[in-house]
Amino acid sequence: MRKEQTYQWRSLTVGTCYYPEQWDEALWRSDLCRMREAGIRCIRIGEFAWSKVEPEEGKFTYDFFSRFLDLAEELGMKVIFGTPTATPPAWLTEQYPEVLNCRQDGVPYRHGMRRHYNYNSPVYRLLSARIVEAFASHYAPHPAVVGWQIDNELNCETGDFYSESDTDAFRLFLQEKYGTLDALNRAWGTVFWNQTYTAWEEIYVPRTTIHDSTNPHQVLDYIRFISDSAVRFCKMQSDIVRKHCKPGDFITTNGLFGHLDNHRMMDEALDVYTYDSYPNFAFCMTEDPLHAANLNDRRWSRHLTEVRSVCPHFGIMEQQSGAMGWNTRMESPAPKPGQLTLWAMQSVAHGADYISFFRWRTSVMGTEMYWHGILDYDNRDNRKLREVKAFARRLEAIREMAGAEYEAPFALVKDYDNDWDAELDAWHRRLTWQSEEELFIAAQLAHTPMDILYLLRSTEAAELLRYPVLFYPHGLILTEEHAALLRDYVEQGGTLVVAARTGQKDAAGQCVMAPMPGLLAEATQTDVTEGTFVGPADGTVTMDWAGRELDTGVYNEVLALTGPEARVLARYTGSYYAGEPALAERALGKGRILHFGGTFTRDTVRAFLDYLHLSEPWGDVLTLPADCELCVRRKGENRLFFVLNYAATSQTVTLRAPLTDAETGEGAEGTIALRPYEVKIFRS
Ligand code: GAL
Repeated sequence: MRKEQTYQWRSLTVGTCYYPEQWDEALWRSDLCRMREAGIRCIRIGEFAWSKVEPEEGKFTYDFFSRFLDLAEELGMKVIFGTPTATPPAWLTEQYPEVLNCRQDGVPYRHGMRRHYNYNSPVYRLLSARIVEAFASHYAPHPAVVGWQIDNELNCETGDFYSESDTDAFRLFLQEKYGTLDALNRAWGTVFWNQTYTAWEEIYVPRTTIHDSTNPHQVLDYIRFISDSAVRFCKMQSDIVRKHCKPGDFITTNGLFGHLDNHRMMDEALDVYTYDSYPNFAFCMTEDPLHAANLNDRRWSRHLTEVRSVCPHFGIMEQQSGAMGWNTRMESPAPKPGQLTLWAMQSVAHGADYISFFRWRTSVMGTEMYWHGILDYDNRDNRKLREVKAFARRLEAIREMAGAEYEAPFALVKDYDNDWDAELDAWHRRLTWQSEEELFIAAQLAHTPMDILYLLRSTEAAELLRYPVLFYPHGLILTEEHAALLRDYVEQGGTLVVAARTGQKDAAGQCVMAPMPGLLAEATQTDVTEGTFVGPADGTVTMDWAGRELDTGVYNEVLALTGPEARVLARYTGSYYAGEPALAERALGKGRILHFGGTFTRDTVRAFLDYLHLSEPWGDVLTLPADCELCVRRKGENRLFFVLNYAATSQTVTLRAPLTDAETGEGAEGTIALRPYEVKIFRS
């Protein structure tokens, strides 16, 4: 069982990100007063300000932030303090160049950007520990401080580290993992292409190779190692901060980035997790022919779902409030009227209890002068500030719903080994990325709230049994532990859906010499007789499922039944395997397991959701058009229905049962119109 998160916001709270060091001190007071006036109760500061406290090596000066904190206290503003290790000072990298991260070819990343350090440099760890000790011992006791953010966005900018310190640490990591070179050589399959290692010193983090292609088992271990390094770096800092925290204060960091086991980081080092939400990054769904214009930002809900799996009651440390861009990148237009609120409500609807807008005012200098904040350069009140104010008022009306659970009738199962394997194995990636995307889109269009559930070392069947249905599409890497856990879940009453290439690899990422679906074959009572990509020349290969003609996606496996309890639900209707089983179901214990030989498309997912009675689960309470998302949060007897209109046009929702408008307290029934980008919250 995972450990419960150790901090939760008691009421829904609005915040912003502020950089006292970037503004004339004369502005501090009016900034804080205007924030208070807008309903902002908390700010994050300090995460890039190492030199403000240690301007020269070993010389510490605390006055600057002490003055700021005193003012915050006087004006009733709470503060989340950041540790400043994301941006080492120039004196540091100049004096100790070994702290720098490197490109894969060994060239160091230089001063001038951020996150140019590596986690494993002994000097950097030492100097980081010292500055964190200085920040925490000095500022944690201050009454204005309520929480700490470790570093800033661990693994953002890059999740790859190739410095000499990383190679040194990688060797130790491998020695601990494998004990002997023989064991490592076996796990990495080094007999292939004569890669056998005869001394630990011959091993490096992956280096430049022809076609950028290197030993896949080595790369998988390398990503595990990067994750381990980041978690240990975070934990080193949180251990220091924790010594100085006042009771009730919290430690967090802001994510969510790759090559990082965020669940482990949460469980080992943090009290609560925060996320940086920039919905305008989500351009991928513009290619969606059905909803080109508006599924864009809605796609962000998938990331929020992922965050919720790390920490069910999370915060948003940075919520997009303006147009995005650097001087070198033009990212996105300004939010249209209503969109700032829509995106902030999207976070709340998905479980966030703290929403902190990035940033109070747009920077007038530096790389991020086009990453717009609430206020613009002219510092006048504007449309965005009015929206923030109105949003804060709306949140006030439902503030006691902090801690409410997100309700989802099914979950998508994931695990880090498969995430990382799919990153590098193009065959794995194509299947997984497409199936996960299509599952998300189909669930959105069916108004079926979904969760993501990670299989972790601590996961027990009871955690799986919170969901009547689980989809674990392409668990190529399947360990004995996970196979046993999944089987347990099914036997105790769960419905598990697995798809093509399940069980193909072991924990080292090597293919197993056994019939598929490998360690689940006995549970599914199926066998995979053959499998193939569906190439462009094949067109679409469909299957017939009770009269429904459905696309079986980019990879097909031909199934055969191997036991008496399995039965065929659907057969291929195309290609040379027409007539062969494409989908089988086996009742097992109190539950059942469905083995699908294909990969998911949204229509196929819809057929699964229909078959498993998961489509429109709230259809007797309210029905909504495809352009609206439905999220449900429940606390005790109270349930909130968030209806989010992502479209630039108005939409109509029909209430099938009498509800209450959660903000005004007035009764709501019949058809209700939502303006473009409007969010309505109903209470049952
Ligand atoms: C985040 C980061 C912030 C700021 C923002 C806009 O990734 O944490 O410091 O850079 O993006 O680029």
